[in-house]
Amino acid sequence: MTAPAHVVGGTPTPSRPRVTARVTSFGRTGGQVDAAFARVLASHGALLIEPERGESFTSVAPGWVLDAVSAFGRSAPLVVEVGSGAGEQVVRAAAAHPERDFLALEVWTDGIAATARRAAETGVTNLRVLRADAHQVFAGALPSGSVAEVWTFFPDPWRKSRHHKRRLVNPAFADDVARALTPGGCWRLATDWEDYAGQVRDVLSACTLLESGPEWAPRWDGRVLTRFERKAAEAGRVVRDVAAVRRCDA
Ligand SMILES: C[S@@+](CC[C@H](N)C(=O)[O-])C[C@H]1O[C@@H](n2cnc3c(N)ncnc32)[C@H](O)[C@@H]1O
Repeated sequence: MTAPAHVVGGTPTPSRPRVTARVTSFGRTGGQVDAAFARVLASHGALLIEPERGESFTSVAPGWVLDAVSAFGRSAPLVVEVGSGAGEQVVRAAAAHPERDFLALEVWTDGIAATARRAAETGVTNLRVLRADAHQVFAGALPSGSVAEVWTFFPDPWRKSRHHKRRLVNPAFADDVARALTPGGCWRLATDWEDYAGQVRDVLSACTLLESGPEWAPRWDGRVLTRFERKAAEAGRVVRDVAAVRRCDA
C-alpha cells in the first residue's frame, strides 16, 4: 500500500478490523470532518501522522508501530501529551525545548486544527500530532522504553459513577504508559476533580512498574495555565498534580 504524501513516520501493516464495541474515554471527536481536515492537511500536513487505521478514524491498526525517527527526521527524547486539546501546552513546550520531540495525541478535530495553526504560527518543527485513541496508541504503537515523558493534564472527568469506566486513567493504561516510558521517565498528570485525582494516585501507586512520588506532586512549573485550570479556580476546585517515574529495576 502506498502512503499518501502527508503520511510520515509509521509502519503500515495489513489492517485487522475489530468488531467489538469499545468503551472510549472521549465523548466528542467532531466527526471525521473531511473538508475541515483536508484544509488542515493542505496547510499543515507534515505535522500530522496518519497511522494505519483499525475499525474507525480514531483507531490504530493492531501491529502498527510509530517510527519516531522517520516521523521527526531525527532521534531525540520524545514527550507525549495525551489529550492535548487545543495545543496550548504542547506547542509552548515544543517552542521552549527544541532539543526534544513532542507527540500530541488527540481525537477532537477542532482541537487538532487549533494545534496545527498554533504550531504553524510558532514555527515549531519538533511537534507531530497523531489523531488517535491514546489507549490504543499506548497498547502497542509506541515501542517499550521509547518515551522520555508522558503528560496527561485535565483528562475528561466522567463525573457520574456509571461513567467512571470511561476515565482515561485506569490500571491497564497505567501499565501501558509505564512500559512505553524509558527507565527514569516521568508521567505527569493533573486534574481538578478530587475523586479522579484520588483514583489517579491509587492507580499509579498500584502499578508495579512505576514509583510514585508524594501523595500530591507540587504544581509542575512547566504546565501551562489552560482554560480548565482557570475554570477550576473560578469554581473553587483544587487542582491536584500527580507524578510517577518508571522504575529502573522493574
Ligand atoms: C478536558 S480536555 C483537556 C485538554 C488539555 N489537556 C487542556 O488541559 O487544555 C481532555 C482532552 O482529552 C481528549 N481525549 C480524551 N480521551 C482521549 C483518548 N483516549 N485519546 C486521545 N485524546 C483523548 C479529549 O478529546 C479532550 O480534548
